[in-house]
Amino acid sequence: MSVDVASLVDQGRLWDRHMRMAVHGATAAGGVNRQALSAEDIAAQKTLIAWGEALGLVAATDPAGNLYLRLVGTDSDAAPVMTGSHLDSQPSGGKFDGVYGVLAGLEALEAIRAAGIAPRRSIELVAWMNEEGSRFAPGMMGSSVFAGAVPLAAILPVRDAAGVAVGQALAQVRAALPLPSWPLQRPVHAYVEAHIEQGPLLERDGYTIGVVTGIQGKRTFSVTVTGEEAHAGTTPRRERKDALVAAVRMVQALNAAFADPEDLIKFTVGRFDVRPNAPSVIPSLVRFSVDLRHPDSAVLRALGDQVVHICGAECGPCKVEVVELSTAMALSFPEPMRALIRNQARLLRISATDILSSAGHDARYLHPICHTGMIFVPCRAGISHNEAESAEPGHLADGTRVLVRTLVELAGDGAR
Ligand code: HGY
Ligand code: MN
Ligand code: MN
Repeated sequence: MSVDVASLVDQGRLWDRHMRMAVHGATAAGGVNRQALSAEDIAAQKTLIAWGEALGLVAATDPAGNLYLRLVGTDSDAAPVMTGSHLDSQPSGGKFDGVYGVLAGLEALEAIRAAGIAPRRSIELVAWMNEEGSRFAPGMMGSSVFAGAVPLAAILPVRDAAGVAVGQALAQVRAALPLPSWPLQRPVHAYVEAHIEQGPLLERDGYTIGVVTGIQGKRTFSVTVTGEEAHAGTTPRRERKDALVAAVRMVQALNAAFADPEDLIKFTVGRFDVRPNAPSVIPSLVRFSVDLRHPDSAVLRALGDQVVHICGAECGPCKVEVVELSTAMALSFPEPMRALIRNQARLLRISATDILSSAGHDARYLHPICHTGMIFVPCRAGISHNEAESAEPGHLADGTRVLVRTLVELAGDGAR
């Protein structure tokens, strides 16, 4: 690379764009609540499209609501290189989860243009639809449908708490952001995603770059406990079908079953809905989420298969239904991609180490269809999925410098 494209990454511009993107869904505590396909998400996409089109990038979407910004390469027949992440957030999310991967990709494309590099392969920046899965469950809808792992028909009817279906929300986005629609399952040459670690290891050990070796496995379930509504004052204990009492027993039994002195099993109940949720009415229905993760696929299979049995053993006079929403086994990214990323960090003299991702990412779904890798940078105290999430401008810029050199290598330099 004649002009070191990494030197054209602008730390101030990158940081400023994070702060401007954080306005969309800003919360009083300094975080963001930018739910998938919401007005805040549309505003964020509009901002990204404006930044991309100002660079001459071609904007498009697809039937799953993913957003693409393409830097056209010299060989239009060659499968593109992709980079990106997600713009949607958790309800009390931070300014960097997902957004960093999108804005690092945009900054990389800006540096590539400034360097006068015309890559042979097109490079596409992508913002995947609904990575977080908090408004519509499960997450990673956009990337899983793009990659063909999940049929489009499976996500369109999924409803949020207000009863709005994904298909309806997508139509609202398309009306607000009319864009050309590219096909799903297009060929992709390679995908690289930059992301904050969402854990404490890089900061603790003093590394700037995490060369991600893989992603631990994750299984998610929805558990519905059905009892009988009755008067809190008059209904004798022996006649009660109390869905809340049964659900609490299930959660306690699951927690006991997944207790792990090595702390490798990650078991979380993040959502717990009670109906009718009235102080003097015995609950008739409880729906709760199960998020179960482990770095070893065989262990995850065995643990996840226990969920239905443990819940069934605790349901008492109530009924219980356990539905598995997503099943994603542990994966390892290909060594040649890891070596390419590691080498860019070495050439840039930026400290780097290998690291397993304990958080899930859209890269999971690109991995089966193309050469895939991830680049982590530290976040402060490993805090994430929390409004206090924070990162250092220098780390964000260094991660982008490694990313842009990796993208140029993967896209193969075209004419200067
Ligand atoms: O839950 C996850 O691992 C991701 O941050 N959405
Ligand atoms: Mn994320
Ligand atoms: Mn997240």
